[in-house]
Amino acid sequence: MRRLLITSALPYANGHIHIGHLVEYTQTDIFARYWRMTGRRCIYLCADDTHGTAIMIRARQEGRSEAEVIADMSAAHQRDFAAFQIRFDHYGSTNSPANRALCEEFWASLRERGMVTTKDVTQLFDPKEGMFLADRFVKGTCPKCAAPDQYGDSCDKCGATYAATDLVEPRSALTGARPEVRSAQHLMVAIEPERPFLSTWTQGEGRMPKEIANYLAGHFLSEPLRDWDVSRPAPYFGFEIPDAPGNYWYVWFDAPIGYMAASKEWCDREGEVFDDWWRSEETEIVHVIGKDIVYFHTLFWPAMLKSARFTLPSRVQVHGFLTVNGEKMSKSKGTFVLASTYLKHLDPSYLRYYYASKLSSKVDDIDLNLEELVNKVNAELVNKVVNLASRSSRFVAQTGLSAAYPEDGGLFAAAAGEAEAIGAAYAGFDYARATRIIVSLADRANEYVDRMQPWALAKQPDRKAEVQAVCTVALNLFRQIVIYLAPVLPKLADDVARLLGCPMDRWELAKTPLVGTKVAAYEHLMKRVDPAAVEKMIVESRPVEETAAGTGGAAAGAAAPAAIAGAAAAQGPAASGGAAPAVEDDGAALAKEPLAAECSIDDFTKVDLRVARIVAAEQVPEAKKLLKLTVSLGGDVRRTVFAGIKAYYKPEDLVGRLVIVCANLAPRKMKFGVSEGMVLAAGDETVHLLSPDSGAKPGMRVH
Ligand code: MSP
Ligand code: ZN
Repeated sequence: MRRLLITSALPYANGHIHIGHLVEYTQTDIFARYWRMTGRRCIYLCADDTHGTAIMIRARQEGRSEAEVIADMSAAHQRDFAAFQIRFDHYGSTNSPANRALCEEFWASLRERGMVTTKDVTQLFDPKEGMFLADRFVKGTCPKCAAPDQYGDSCDKCGATYAATDLVEPRSALTGARPEVRSAQHLMVAIEPERPFLSTWTQGEGRMPKEIANYLAGHFLSEPLRDWDVSRPAPYFGFEIPDAPGNYWYVWFDAPIGYMAASKEWCDREGEVFDDWWRSEETEIVHVIGKDIVYFHTLFWPAMLKSARFTLPSRVQVHGFLTVNGEKMSKSKGTFVLASTYLKHLDPSYLRYYYASKLSSKVDDIDLNLEELVNKVNAELVNKVVNLASRSSRFVAQTGLSAAYPEDGGLFAAAAGEAEAIGAAYAGFDYARATRIIVSLADRANEYVDRMQPWALAKQPDRKAEVQAVCTVALNLFRQIVIYLAPVLPKLADDVARLLGCPMDRWELAKTPLVGTKVAAYEHLMKRVDPAAVEKMIVESRPVEETAAGTGGAAAGAAAPAAIAGAAAAQGPAASGGAAPAVEDDGAALAKEPLAAECSIDDFTKVDLRVARIVAAEQVPEAKKLLKLTVSLGGDVRRTVFAGIKAYYKPEDLVGRLVIVCANLAPRKMKFGVSEGMVLAAGDETVHLLSPDSGAKPGMRVH
């Protein structure tokens, strides 16, 4: 089979990796891992996309060099990718000597073919900052509807698109200065001569999703293609164009060349020949990208590759955008989740599996429904897949697997027969189909275990051989499933390789059962998803609230709706009993704080009040009013509560004390951490914590 070179789009160095990006890197990583498992020669390359105005401005604002900014971001990106088990063969940077050399090579061939022209381009110029302003760095009043504060390319209010120079009362978003209109000579690449070629190439069988090919044919390729503006005047962070001093290649010129620069670095490291990968019919090139960057990859890029006589991509795989709970990712809703935030709360395997189960070769947007993530992972991965091993491995920990593969009614052979269909689904980017088939195999395996009941057999001393046979079958079916899942869940495959003492990294291993080998002591393979952890991740992703007003710390402000219904509710025992605490008042207090409006019993019972024990209390040195409490709601249900009682209690006096806690308050992110409840107290100038009668137990509901 031909060699395979796979890329994901190069993430911008001006921001961190988030769960939207991870759709793409997970999608590509699964594809690469599948092909590696088949033994095909295959490399997966990526790099940081480092050039452009945004980086230059960030560096200026941070008072650092661009080189420092991009070095830090590259390290952060690679850390996040590694944690999500995205395995690149090489990760480069567009700001590399290899990339500069390749850019120069492309440029020379574009010049040679007469494809470079010049044009005077009028742009807004910030006289204070001394630079031309990209559209998003200009703000002003919409020329159509007069809405104030709109960006230089389009209006949020009426949807009009226009040139930045059309804005009424334009201002530089960087300095507030009034921009001047200036003109500069730009270098352009003419791609119209390549239109006949592109019209054929884009429509090639399997070249790109059909809807994209149709869109290009209808929207771009049916009329002359405009010249592409590939230069920016100084100051610009990028590569200076050798034969046009003071001008730099526009970031999108050198970014895709970064794919090749990463290949070059990989080749140099591995002793490979670059032209075998980029100038050879024996190599298939697959680019995976999001739908927002289609025309860079399907028009400009193939035109450039062709002009410089490089291999054209075999396929441009395009995915849609991520929505969370049916909406665009949103900072204020806490659904703009950074990879690093996710990792603090949840296992990356959950997201890899969830995305796999949603991804097809279509360009549709994919929705991350957080409740579905919890249910799917728990129902399919934990209850169906992992459970197969946890139910059967301990019965063969002593004996190992049977010496010959037992009669299983054709189950193993049937599942081995699915290897091709599952493999074809991975190869065709239809991971939803692959996971569907795999889950159905897990269903069949579980039916077998349910029917054979090894735990019941194990109680009968004379049926040891049967126990071993049943568990040998169960573990072999499990192993097959985990091999099929290995592109999605490489960590699970590694762990199972240790449990069963066998390799799991080749596709063909699913064809042959494992017999006569030892089985290691079972160790937890995957935890259930805790909905409360999902909730915490969302809370942490919301903008920080600076103040912590109110006695309870978590009392002030309207609580945002929980991302998962019920996720924040206490899961402690709901024992009844516990009389409503009577609080005395002396009249003066009542006058100061008059009784609130009447509420219904339903309103009241929405508030889940519980008895809790303070198990830890500590100072928050930087906070004026807060103590950090850890309360137990019974069992091992614990909550962290920031309470505004610093002035009234010493932490050591609180430990062990019973209090009343509002247990279903939505978690709230505060400056010092997340508050997950509220401790009830009476008082205005002073504070009196409420405690139940002796005899009350943590977790009891307060009625
Ligand atoms: N730097 C360019 C790509 C240059 S490739 C030569 C870029 N960078 S990006 O960081 O904005 O995006 C990287 C990839 O992530 C793109 O393919 C983009 O479509 C994808 N995604 C970014 N946000 C996304 C979602 N919210 N959902 C799905 N994919 C998303 O574009
Ligand atoms: Zn408008």
